[in-house]
Amino acid sequence: MLLSPQAERNWQDLCSVLEELLESQSHRKLFALELGSGTGQHIIRFGQKMPFVTWQPSDIKKESRDSIKAYIAATNAKTVLQPVHLDASDTWDKWAGLSHSSCDVVIAINLLQYSSFKTAQGVFNGAGQILRQNGLLITYGVYAMNGTITPSCNAQLDAELRKLNPEWGLPDIDVLRQLAYSNGMRLERMIEMEEYYKCLIFRKL
Ligand SMILES: C[S@@+](CC[C@H](N)C(=O)[O-])C[C@H]1O[C@@H](n2cnc3c(N)ncnc32)[C@H](O)[C@@H]1O
Repeated sequence: MLLSPQAERNWQDLCSVLEELLESQSHRKLFALELGSGTGQHIIRFGQKMPFVTWQPSDIKKESRDSIKAYIAATNAKTVLQPVHLDASDTWDKWAGLSHSSCDVVIAINLLQYSSFKTAQGVFNGAGQILRQNGLLITYGVYAMNGTITPSCNAQLDAELRKLNPEWGLPDIDVLRQLAYSNGMRLERMIEMEEYYKCLIFRKL
């Protein structure tokens, strides 16, 4: 079981956002796909707090999928499915056999800033296909806005990420808004979280 200190710090705030967004639909069964699930710490907590949702974890890395499996076993999670291999930069027909319009929620936590633009395109293209009408794409992370990164700690994080991998870095909210629009979604809300992080909520039209 891998342990991310950041996931341990932010899971409660993320749960609160999801509960607020989904509670009005808790009378029916929902299906949520997480992209880049990492250790599995988030999705296990989401499963415990929101049992009316079936949670599908996924990650490109075997090490992450093994950790998610260990968390599922350790917590005896009933509403979290076994993790699937899913490369979010692939076209949606390669997204682990998920069907068109089969998801109510797609969530990506701290994925976009650790990814190439091709992955961001994949996330929005894929979500545009597998979300039902009115379904939500939720991205959590730190962002640039109108080509500007503030405050200086975020500019520093962007520089550090680009040093690790020139294709990584803080995605620009305006670029994501365009990607959403060209894939049948619109940016509905931006929720301020701790330390300049934000949840962006995109709705499938
Ligand atoms: C910074 S970690 C975040 C993990 C977790 N969501 C969290 O917040 O603790 C990014 C995760 O995305 C995964 N990842 C990177 N590129 C991916 C891709 N193209 N498709 C799916 N997962 C990817 C990595 O393996 C890693 O687990």
